Amino acid sequence: MRLYEALGLILFLSLVNINHAWRNFYRGRGVGGNLGYPPRGVKLQGRISNDHVSTEWFTQKLDHFQPNDLRAWKQRYYVNDEFYDAQKGGPVFLMIGGEGEATIKWMTQGTWIDYAKKFGALCFQLEHRYYGKSHPTKDLSTKNLQYLTSQQALADLAYFISSMNEQYKLPSNVKWIAFGGSYPGSLAAWLRNKYPHLVHGAMSASGPLLAEIDFFDYFRVVDEALATYSDDCVSAVKQGTQQVGILLLHMVGQRNINQKFNLCDPIEKSIDNHNDIANFFEVLAGNFAGVVQYNKDNRQGSNNITIDTLCDIMTNQDLGPPVPRLAEVNSLILNATNQTCLDYKYDKMIASLRNISWDSETAEGGRQWTYQTCIEFGFFQSSTYKPQVFGDSFPADFFIQQCVDIFGMKYNASFLEDAVERTNILYGALNIDVSNVVFVHGSIDPWHALGITKTVNQNAPAIYIEGTAHCANMYPERGDDLPALKAARVQVANLIDSWLRL
Ligand SMILES: *[C@@H]1O[C@H](CO)[C@@H](O)[C@H](O)[C@H]1NC(C)=O
Ligand SMILES: *[C@@H]1O[C@H](CO)[C@@H](O)[C@H](O)[C@H]1NC(C)=O
Ligand SMILES: *[C@@H]1O[C@H](CO)[C@@H](O)[C@H](O)[C@H]1NC(C)=O
Ligand SMILES: *[C@@H]1O[C@H](CO)[C@@H](O)[C@H](O)[C@H]1NC(C)=O
Ligand SMILES: *[C@@H]1O[C@H](CO)[C@@H](O)[C@H](O)[C@H]1NC(C)=O
Repeated sequence: MRLYEALGLILFLSLVNINHAWRNFYRGRGVGGNLGYPPRGVKLQGRISNDHVSTEWFTQKLDHFQPNDLRAWKQRYYVNDEFYDAQKGGPVFLMIGGEGEATIKWMTQGTWIDYAKKFGALCFQLEHRYYGKSHPTKDLSTKNLQYLTSQQALADLAYFISSMNEQYKLPSNVKWIAFGGSYPGSLAAWLRNKYPHLVHGAMSASGPLLAEIDFFDYFRVVDEALATYSDDCVSAVKQGTQQVGILLLHMVGQRNINQKFNLCDPIEKSIDNHNDIANFFEVLAGNFAGVVQYNKDNRQGSNNITIDTLCDIMTNQDLGPPVPRLAEVNSLILNATNQTCLDYKYDKMIASLRNISWDSETAEGGRQWTYQTCIEFGFFQSSTYKPQVFGDSFPADFFIQQCVDIFGMKYNASFLEDAVERTNILYGALNIDVSNVVFVHGSIDPWHALGITKTVNQNAPAIYIEGTAHCANMYPERGDDLPALKAARVQVANLIDSWLRL
């Protein structure tokens, strides 16, 4: 998720050479989806081979809610039958694909695979429509995107389950358990809610259940996470941001910013362009958001830039006043993402997001996920919260403007208000009524602010892990995982065990 993001801003143009580890949290937004990939080459206990993993295609309906519409398309899925114990009546585990390409790496790695071994489960992963190689329409025109909704995606999952039950001749009492992290974490809970006859239980990690236009709490949690290092770190970020604002007021300051922050285009020409300035401040904030959201998780990639790294810089007086420290953080992130300069131009970003070709860079998920935020979720990570550590330059209206600029006049503020209300009515938001679901969140993951973090319903408990980031419990175990994270993994296994006995 950036579930993203939400929708932070993305400079897709410069993303070509960025590897997936970094792409995933670029500017706090999921370009390939908010759930990262498991690390490469991690040796798990026992034998893991790819011999049991295959890539398959499923004939799926285009529009589940229009019985007259018989159009179909091919949806990608992966299977791993290595651990399936049919004799003991093993369950079926379903990893739900999200707002990026579904990776085959999850078929042999991750906590759910450890669970699959334990319970003798048959494993599937279904790629989400419109992402990766699952292309329901010939392009991504706004008209064609009408079939991109979470309701359609849930119906895809329902058809898929029903069809696999037949294809694999699974017993009529077979138990499907869904897994998902970030937006798919929401889908996992919604799937159990909407199709309880098909899905027996669900592990919902870091799933935002409350749709909200102005997700200002996002940066509140980022701020709190930086404060776990020290209050000095937070105040240096705040001062640095304020001073950048002051430097932008005059020519000498502007030139200084160009050079220190390595801007691709001189900022002098953008001073009167609100969108460029908003974009620039949003990138600076995103540098911190991305690192916080994925702090010390066990994703693919060296992933060694952490809250500590950024705060070490922000509190290092040898680097000079807060502005050069902020610039150093920026330089670190630019280098790590192989960007030669910082591209903050709004029009360029919008142009790339308007590209409707499957071959465009934004088709990796940026255009699709932005569309979903504009017609279903909002989730806009604005600068509205107080105190404004990251300035006040990117309010929710800035993101609504993007919906209009990318998809058309219709997608304005009143449209979005109705859209978000609709989502909350259809799914129940934080009042969702489910059983056999576990909601897992981490305290430093900003997304927990829109999820269920306290157990209200004993049949759908919450596990709130102190100190961990986005979807941490889904990645493979590591020796230095926090004890609370280790305990959460065990607790989820115990819950699954209890559901399977029901
Ligand atoms: C950055 O580019 C270098 C050289 O082209 C490459 O070796 C490295 O893997 C790239 N890093 C990332 C994060 O993409
Ligand atoms: C992160 O790891 C890379 C490659 O292993 C190394 O070059 C870089 O200095 C490290 N960065 C930090 C902040 O530790
Ligand atoms: C980023 O890379 C440039 C060019 O290689 C280098 O001069 C600079 O020190 C690097 N900055 C950081 C923070 O690593
Ligand atoms: C869209 O992206 C494709 C692939 O990168 C490119 O060839 C095409 O020119 C772009 N279209 C527009 C209108 O920019
Ligand atoms: C949004 O657009 C609709 C027409 O599509 C219009 O009736 C409405 O007044 C607009 N609302 C705002 C807040 O601009």
